[in-house]
Amino acid sequence: MDNIFVTGGAGFIGSSFVRNAVKRDLKIINLDILNYAGNLKNLNDIEDKKNYVFIKGDICDEGLVESIFKKYKISIVVNFAAESHVDRSIMGSNGFIKTNILGTGILMDIARKYNIDRFLQISTDEVYGDLENELAERFTEKSQIYPSNPYAASKAGADMLVGSYYRTHKFPAIISRCSNNFGPYQFPEKFIPLIIYRALKNKSIPLYGDGLNIRDWIFVEDHVEALFSIIENGKIGEIYNIGSENEIRNIDILKMILKIMNKNESLIEYVKDRKGHDRRYGIDPSKIRKELNFESKHIFEIAIEKTIQWYKDNIKWAEECIDGSYRDYYNNNYKMKE
Ligand code: NAD
Ligand code: TYD
Repeated sequence: MDNIFVTGGAGFIGSSFVRNAVKRDLKIINLDILNYAGNLKNLNDIEDKKNYVFIKGDICDEGLVESIFKKYKISIVVNFAAESHVDRSIMGSNGFIKTNILGTGILMDIARKYNIDRFLQISTDEVYGDLENELAERFTEKSQIYPSNPYAASKAGADMLVGSYYRTHKFPAIISRCSNNFGPYQFPEKFIPLIIYRALKNKSIPLYGDGLNIRDWIFVEDHVEALFSIIENGKIGEIYNIGSENEIRNIDILKMILKIMNKNESLIEYVKDRKGHDRRYGIDPSKIRKELNFESKHIFEIAIEKTIQWYKDNIKWAEECIDGSYRDYYNNNYKMKE
């Protein structure tokens, strides 16, 4: 296999993918702008590997992206690069529109010129919008997309663009739509690492609204395995939902983590609801199960314990995320291989 061009590979899910790919002896070129969530420390265990190259930069920088395609024979693109946090998108959507939509368009335009074999767009179940209640049917790949927040809308915009390139240009794209991920290296602004981090510090944990919103959780390593099955056997032009059939109410996951950590429920602080807060996400993963034989391997409770242990062991990493100055120092002093 030729080189795989990964974007956003220094973030949470991208770094898990890159680590796995490098261990499989695949050749990886990782382009990442290193925003607040991009952290080269996430990959310091593989940074010296011969089959791995890191390039700092923006997917919207056409000259840079083209120079990468010129220099390396790229056969597969996996596009993780994104602004990814709903609360930030509610504060302002510009960066989301730029990276998530424009950036995807730029990558596809250049990838088209170089005749790649496959372009995997890492999308999200959030493009479908929310389910009204616990009785509603889960989302399939045929469900209409109906995003509710600016992050989800930007990802949906990218999905539409990817679909149009497939239809118009026969561009070899595949879209994956995964549910909420958790695991090591997730920036502690997202719900699960935020709970663990704040509980470790004995700080109050904000629970939005009535706490009864439901998310469908998957361990990041299962998501990454699903992506490899799509890269290997997925059909061009298709969409694949990825999920572990693991829907849980926010209040329940919060109490569960506090119990495992031996912390008091008095840390829970009900706060004002998120604007436009999606009620329930639920993914039907039948297609990827039937067509690609994919099944999540991790048991939720065990994966949560593993994640809690990781944050306990890496509390400094999480502190450095919150105090961005050290992370920026580390990122800025990384020596590029040539
Ligand atoms: P993350 O925020 O941890 O990582 C995103 C990475 O993209 C960062 O390293 C960042 O520096 C990089 N990036 C941002 N803008 C860039 C740009 N213009 N050019 C190059 N790099 C840029 O996010 P994540 O949780 O790892 O999500 C990765 C992808 O997976 C996103 O596309 C997201 O929409 C999708 N996704 C996430 C989840 C989830 O639960 N986290 C679920 C489904 C899908
Ligand atoms: P989040 O991790 O931001 O993922 P998403 O909104 O993309 O699903 O949030 C997961 C759920 O947790 C969501 O219903 C919002 C809720 N939440 C809180 O109650 N408190 C918090 O501090 C955060 C960040 C999220």
